[in-house]
Amino acid sequence: MMRRVSRLYVRMAVYIGAAIVGFVLLALASLALIASQQLENYLLAREGTLGRDAAQILASGGPSALREWMTDPRTVPDGVVLYILDAEGRDVAGKALPANYRRFVERFVLAAVRSDERNFSPIRLAPLLVAADGTRYAFLLLPERIAPWGNAATLIALLAAALIVIAVVAALIARALGKPIRELQLTVRSVAKGEVAARAPTAVTARGDELGALARDVDGMAERIERLLASRQQLMRDMSHELRSPLARLQAALALAERKQPLPAIEHARIVTELERMNQAIGDVLRFTRLEAEPIRAKHLLRIDELLHTLVEDERVEAGTREVLLALEATPDLTVVGDPALLRSGFENILRNAIRHAPPDTRIDIRATSEQSLGEPPIDIVTVSIEDRGPGVPSDMLERIFEPYTRLAPAGDDSTGTGLGLAIARRVFTAHEGWIHAEPATPCGLRVRIQIPRAC
Ligand SMILES: Nc1ncnc2c1ncn2[C@@H]1O[C@H](COP(=O)(O)OP(=O)(O)OP(=O)(O)O)[C@@H](O)[C@H]1O
Ligand SMILES: [Mg+2]
Repeated sequence: MMRRVSRLYVRMAVYIGAAIVGFVLLALASLALIASQQLENYLLAREGTLGRDAAQILASGGPSALREWMTDPRTVPDGVVLYILDAEGRDVAGKALPANYRRFVERFVLAAVRSDERNFSPIRLAPLLVAADGTRYAFLLLPERIAPWGNAATLIALLAAALIVIAVVAALIARALGKPIRELQLTVRSVAKGEVAARAPTAVTARGDELGALARDVDGMAERIERLLASRQQLMRDMSHELRSPLARLQAALALAERKQPLPAIEHARIVTELERMNQAIGDVLRFTRLEAEPIRAKHLLRIDELLHTLVEDERVEAGTREVLLALEATPDLTVVGDPALLRSGFENILRNAIRHAPPDTRIDIRATSEQSLGEPPIDIVTVSIEDRGPGVPSDMLERIFEPYTRLAPAGDDSTGTGLGLAIARRVFTAHEGWIHAEPATPCGLRVRIQIPRAC
């Protein structure tokens, strides 16, 4: 079976073929230009009076006068060499004939000098000079260089032609390969960032070559990921809803059973806590999936400094039971546009994490200021940092704690919850065009930084 010829191969072959043809044409043109100039000098000298002058000098002064005349640098024009050869092929001025001309001169020039036919005068390549004593000489003018190679000008012309061709073909290849690859890279990056609806541009997917096939595969992959994510979300949402009702019925049944026959206090407290935990976990899953599907519902102008004040006041009781001090420093008038309930839940989780991990008798610093972003053009942003003096997070986990269900302590441990808090917080802040990061604090502990664009 015949293998299909790759379209990319054909395209490259066409480009390289075009490069070779282009180079040969340019090279020939430049060579022809230079050769024609050299030839022009030669023809001018040949058609001039040089031969007649030589004949006259030979007739009046003999070979010695001829030698003197032809060795004078003013006699022969540039780019041309003059030989006056006797029947043996010796030049009157003693110049050696270049070896590559010798055969040609012997056959076509000297033969005419040697023949003494009087009634036949063929067209001669070189005029014949006859001295007073009858000695015959050939007057031979040759261009200094017959082959144009080796000349500096030719070399430069060839190099320039090669450079032009290389530049044009490289630009064509870069356009043919670089552009679609870049566009494909952007699509892959968007999908990797979580924008699963991103697709390669049709200009790339419509290509008939391997790059087009790759783009279509990438699109297929993104589509599958999108479908999987959507079905996962649907599953999580459905499951949470399904679990809510039996849980509510369980709570009601517990209350009824309690009324008939009270349980020992410890068991009762245990069951209530576990039911509460389950309720909380289901609520978190529902909030998380809802945020994925429809990021922000309400958009209000709100003040982050006020939001943090209320939040800190509400959390003071919890912090107090753990003997942790909350210190808030906020610049007034930090306005942003967003959903107040979502933003509060984002900050609340970070603050609750800090309270949960801070050792007794330590302080949690909450700072909120406004600054200019580094991007172009710079914009005003609100920066909030929440810093505790707890055990912190190992550096290789600083990013991973924002993924759903990442907990450093095992589930069920008192210092952890569902493991969705930071994932929800990241969703909340990115949905507000901001970002959230965690970094080690000095001397110990964790600092979580949040940035949101400030409203003007
Ligand atoms: N301030 C902190 N100091 C030390 N570890 C932290 C801190 N904040 C978060 N972590 C670690 O990151 C993990 C993920 O935090 P996240 O808020 O997402 O989940 P969680 O607090 O365990 O549960 P949830 O917030 O859903 O109730 C936590 O389990 C904890 O191990
Ligand atoms: Mg948490």
